[in-house]
Parts: sequence; C-alpha cells; structure tokens
Amino acid sequence: MIRPLIAGNWKMNKVPTEAATWLGDLKEKLKQTDAGHADILLCVPATHLGAMVAAQGFLALGGQDMSQHESGAYTGEISAAMLKDAGASYVIVGHSERREYHKEDDALLNAKVKKALEHNLIPILCVGESEAQRDAGKAKDVVIAQLKADLEGISFASADDLVIAYEPIWAIGTGKTATADDAQEMCAAIRQTLAELYPDQASRIRILYGGSMKPSNAQELLSKADINGGLIGGASLKTDDLLALVAAAK
Ligand code: PGA
Repeated sequence: MIRPLIAGNWKMNKVPTEAATWLGDLKEKLKQTDAGHADILLCVPATHLGAMVAAQGFLALGGQDMSQHESGAYTGEISAAMLKDAGASYVIVGHSERREYHKEDDALLNAKVKKALEHNLIPILCVGESEAQRDAGKAKDVVIAQLKADLEGISFASADDLVIAYEPIWAIGTGKTATADDAQEMCAAIRQTLAELYPDQASRIRILYGGSMKPSNAQELLSKADINGGLIGGASLKTDDLLALVAAAK
C-alpha cells in the first residue's frame, strides 16, 4: 500500500500574506480532521515559501518550477538549492503550462529532474496528452515517450525520490476530468514503463492524477490501484476542498 500524496498546485495565486492566513485556517481545521493517512504537499510560488515554512510540521512544501542550472547569471530564475534552503522538499517539473507557455522540452526537463535530485528535491514530473492527441488515439504513446525522454539516464536510491503526475492537458482547469478507468489505464501504463526503467522501485513510486480533481470526483479516482494521489490546482486553493480531497484519499 502506497501512502497517498495530496499535492496542491497553487500556480500564480494568492500573495504571501494571504498564504500565511490560509495556512493558519488549515492548521485549525486539521485539528478536527482525520488526515494521518495521507501526505499533504503544497506547491506554491517561491515567494510564498518563507511565509509558509512554519507549516512544515503538518505539510510539505514544494516549488512549481526550477532552473536546470546550478547558479549564476540567469536573471529571474530560481535554483534547486534556493528552493531547498527556503523549505521546499518537492518541485513540480514539466507542468503542461511550462511545456506550453515556456516551450520547455523533454531535454530541458530531463536536466531539471537531474538537478532536482542532485539537491535532494523530489521532482514531481508531469506528463500528459492534449485533446487532439487523445482523439487521434495517441495518448499512451505521447505520455510514455515523455516519460522515457524526461527520465533518460536518471537513477535514484529510493522510490520516494520521484513522483509522476499524469495530467491530461484537456482536463486541467477545464472542469473536464478523465474517467477514473481512463486515468487508471494510463497510470498503469506509466507504472509498467517505470518497471522497465526501475524494476526495484516501480511498484512503490507514487503516481498522481491531475486535471480538475475535486471533492466530487476524487474518491473514485483515488480508489484506483495505480493512482496514489492527486496534483490539484483549483481545488487546492480552498482549505475545505483540500481537506475533502485528503479525506477522499482514505
Ligand atoms: P486543476 O489543475 O486541478 O485546476 O485542473 C491541475 C494542475 O494543473 O496541476
């Protein structure tokens, strides 16, 4: 049994002072909630980490992107070491919004995964197909190709060092969700590929589903054998919704 991971992706929302208030609210509500069965993670803008670092006792923090470079003249970039030092233990790599709006390709994402691991940050590697690719029957080929390219030449010591998020692009922020069976089918294919790459670890690597996961659909998705948690955008911004998702992971 893999311990579920409920991971919020706040994207570019809230300011640090709001984040601190939000966290106080969550902490209070957690006292009355049975949440011990899951890990809770919030991937927040890097500017928010300082305001949230006190929360590390009851949840983990992550960044949403990082540079593939170690340090130096890269104006505007944030390094793995900076995220780590600011309190992050995870980082999202290859979110479809980065792939699309910032033209991040698999070679770059491979370098970012490597750099994250070098700094003991757990990469949450996102993969997923577009609607056109799904309609053309290519969803699995696209996702598996991304996975293999992004993980090429990468090894790690423990299954806890890597998280994969399957996020069909057409389901992100749209209210459309993959059916639980379709999501499971893809996550099983991902695990099969992981088993080829990492035979000793694959059965314990966490695979998340992301794309309009919300309290009303989470339980069905999270009940599937190869879905070990969620990467949640919109519904992670409200404490009640986040806690409902944690409850659904039981
Ligand atoms: P959503 O976002 O839950 O708002 O669809 C998920 C994500 O982009 O990680």
